[in-house]
Amino acid sequence: MLTNLRVWLNHFEYHAQQPRGAAAAATDGITAAERRLIARSIATFQLGEQSDGAGLLRAARRFAARHGDELLPRITELFIGEEQRHARLLREFMDAHGIRAKALHWSDSLFRRLRRLAGFELYLHVLIAAELIGNVYYRALEAVTGCARLKVLCRTLLADELAHIGYESELILELRARKPLAVRTLIRLLHRAFFCAAALAVWVSHRAVLRRAGHTAHGFLWRCLQEYAFHLEPPAAWAGAASTSRRR
Ligand SMILES: [Fe+2]
Ligand SMILES: [Fe+2]
Repeated sequence: MLTNLRVWLNHFEYHAQQPRGAAAAATDGITAAERRLIARSIATFQLGEQSDGAGLLRAARRFAARHGDELLPRITELFIGEEQRHARLLREFMDAHGIRAKALHWSDSLFRRLRRLAGFELYLHVLIAAELIGNVYYRALEAVTGCARLKVLCRTLLADELAHIGYESELILELRARKPLAVRTLIRLLHRAFFCAAALAVWVSHRAVLRRAGHTAHGFLWRCLQEYAFHLEPPAAWAGAASTSRRR
């Protein structure tokens, strides 16, 4: 059984009751040039946030039944609800600024297909890659916009995503610590390689925004890897122990 699920259930329940939101009254407005810079990029991220979560919930229920983690399905429902709220907040901003939504983007389809491949643990690995890279992206988006409402929205999403990363990394490290050293090492190497490929794919799709925020391709990858190392390669993970004391 996973150790801290009660704490995470409390966290997600609290946030479901007191959702963070972008202040509607915040100074609002983007220039035509800014809209051209961010429109396609923000629409792609909005698409990524939007999911009914049915596959994840199925995987969580199967995992919970197998391991006796009875709180996990409810936590997963609340987690999915929070991601759907992110999609709604981004969509409201886009609608208010004449930015068209996307129905399809190759990076989103790829992430979705990968998640469907296997069980809950693989879901966690794909999700955390998207969240870690997303955190670097939302900071970049906040840096390039002059719109106070979008800045608040980016910070709101960042705050939620940091908690998601804390939750997912804790589960990943705890589950990984139960495996033999060789398996742990292999998973770590494969995941890191996947993460680098995903970060570079995000660079390709969002380079206009990322460049404006001061990132080169190499700098963006380095920043993403720093996030990765902080959350997924704390010293305790090398020793095989799941650490709960590595929060910022
Ligand atoms: Fe999100
Ligand atoms: Fe998230």
